[in-house]
Amino acid sequence: MLKEVIATRFITPLREGGSLPGLVEADDLAAYVLKFTGAGQGRKTLVAEVVCGELARRLGLRVPRLVTVELDSVLGLGEPDQQVQDLLRSSGGTNLGMDFLSGALGFDPLAFPVDRAEAGRIVWFDALINNVDRSWRNPNLLMHRGDLWLIDHGATMIWHHNWPSAEASAARPYDASDHALARFRPDIAAAA
Ligand SMILES: Nc1ncnc2c1ncn2[C@@H]1O[C@H](COP(=O)(O)OP(=O)(O)OP(=O)(O)O)[C@@H](O)[C@H]1O
Ligand SMILES: [Mg+2]
Repeated sequence: MLKEVIATRFITPLREGGSLPGLVEADDLAAYVLKFTGAGQGRKTLVAEVVCGELARRLGLRVPRLVTVELDSVLGLGEPDQQVQDLLRSSGGTNLGMDFLSGALGFDPLAFPVDRAEAGRIVWFDALINNVDRSWRNPNLLMHRGDLWLIDHGATMIWHHNWPSAEASAARPYDASDHALARFRPDIAAAA
């Protein structure tokens, strides 16, 4: 069960994300990154975020805590940006939230070292969940207080958009050639 919070204030859109996630404050006074149910990517990407995010956590990888955020679409009325206003208005009800890691930096493979064991665990996990969104172009990894954190598991379990393809997809080797951690010689065997 995810903790449930109620959004009390829309702070700002996070422009880096393709789905235009937002930053909200909730009734517990904490700040959360909000992934809108009304976003074009659809609800299934949020299902993948929950399943794979919690799986990663149980495997000992760092993932910001996930919560459900109740959103009153009235919060969108004061939002000047039409696109953001539309998202807020179409996402009334339950949305996905995640702890906002304040001060986190986007991971850059040229700027931060990662040891072979940790790189191996993350690449192994991405192969398991069929993650197509951890390339060096868009790592979806954050550096927070010296630790590596995993975010954005929306583009995983691609087969759940097309179940008849699931078996063939599971049998196909994972292509990690442009994975953000490929250059750290990930120790996949140790991770497995
Ligand atoms: N928990 C968090 N704490 C701090 N910043 C975050 C957090 N989650 C996301 N961000 C910031 O917001 C950006 C977009 O988030 P995310 O990648 O989850 O969104 P998206 O719309 O799925 O993106 P994409 O363009 O990769 O599909 C991240 O690159 C990061 O800069
Ligand atoms: Mg992303």
